[in-house]
Amino acid sequence: MVASNNILTAHEREEIDSWLKRYPEDQSQSALLAALRAVMHEDHYLSTEKMDAVADYLNLPKIAVYEVASFYSMFELDKKAAAENTISVCTNISCMLNGADEIVEHIEEKLGIKMGESTPDGKFFFKVEEECLAACCGAPMMQLNHVYHENLTPEKVDELLDSVASKTDKETG
Ligand code: FES
Repeated sequence: MVASNNILTAHEREEIDSWLKRYPEDQSQSALLAALRAVMHEDHYLSTEKMDAVADYLNLPKIAVYEVASFYSMFELDKKAAAENTISVCTNISCMLNGADEIVEHIEEKLGIKMGESTPDGKFFFKVEEECLAACCGAPMMQLNHVYHENLTPEKVDELLDSVASKTDKETG
């Protein structure tokens, strides 16, 4: 039986409940990844308050939630990462040799921010450099909202960023 909880939104609770149904009642930890994904989807980052709420909802120790949240790089723990779209450029060896530095520079110039920052309008978060994302054959590459894009050029980056920015405009406008 899960604990009641007012901090999680109705949608987050619904999503967590749908996953809890798939596991034995004493295995609520199995729904933890899905719970954190649901919070990320709504808030774009995991606040301590929400992680504690998830722990409470799943009857888990808080540390069990913090461990998982801090292990996976797809989860953001910092409020400054709370943007509509997340960009991660791989700067490891294959990508570096194929122009990752220029791609990083191009994105920084285009968005007017440095790596690790979000645009003031909250549209983009430019995540700190990623280690090899296992797409070396398509170097240089990046993830945009966790979707892989390979063989990047500045023009291709422009197309991708402009297209998600206009999608965000339509959704919010
Ligand atoms: S070095 Fe960039 S994907 Fe492997």
